[in-house]
Amino acid sequence: METRTPLIAGNWKMYKTAAEARETAAQLVNLVTDADGADIMIAPAFTALESVFMVISGSRVSMGAQDLFWEKEGAYTGQISAEMLVAAGCQYVIIGHSERRQYFGETDDTVNKKIGAAIEAGLKPVVCVGETEHERESGQTFSVLDKQVKMGLKGYFVEDLSDLVIAYEPVWAIGTGKTATEEQAQEVHHYIRSLIEDLYGNAFSESMRILYGGSVKPANISALMAMADIDGALVGGASLDSESFSRIVHFKIKK
Ligand code: 13P
Repeated sequence: METRTPLIAGNWKMYKTAAEARETAAQLVNLVTDADGADIMIAPAFTALESVFMVISGSRVSMGAQDLFWEKEGAYTGQISAEMLVAAGCQYVIIGHSERRQYFGETDDTVNKKIGAAIEAGLKPVVCVGETEHERESGQTFSVLDKQVKMGLKGYFVEDLSDLVIAYEPVWAIGTGKTATEEQAQEVHHYIRSLIEDLYGNAFSESMRILYGGSVKPANISALMAMADIDGALVGGASLDSESFSRIVHFKIKK
């Protein structure tokens, strides 16, 4: 029973001014008009959200943000609320990216709070998990993921999570050109789905999308997407160019 629509998402990280982002987004919109087999999302920097929304609105391309803060409003200098993202045109928000965990003090606890804020505002959370190279080499991959998933989702019920997307991004594969093999990724995706099944039941675990991220390129997307539990990709570097991202969006499904 395969009911999961693939999601191909581009995380633009700290690249592109508002004008540059608008230009890339406009090109992408034109390149993917025929790509009806997948949902498509791009996540530009906060400063580019409004200008990107102007060119993607009404198209096949949706928009997400790269982070949010969990409070609704207040004296929190530099922060952006879920409501502000919705007003700017976002449907998705990336939460707990490894770069935020590594450089900006993100923890499973802050991820947990951010998921709640996203759900309450009607944003679809794309929650990132993944092990470091050291954790993989020391045999801790599954225990690390177990903790990230369980603590991130702690306190939420299945009815809260209908829009949840999980992105498995092995830290050692991000921006390094070292992709996990499709078998390595499938093994972890299957593990994550079984964790979700234990927590929330079979029907929900079968409906939830799990994306792979880490050096996804036009050349490796098809092999990854052929795996049973890989439902899409969270793409960094290769999403910055509309042409290469469009080629990823147009992967040939071999399942
Ligand atoms: P790269 O595709 O550049 O490895 O980045 C992956 C990523 O971190 C997406 O969120």
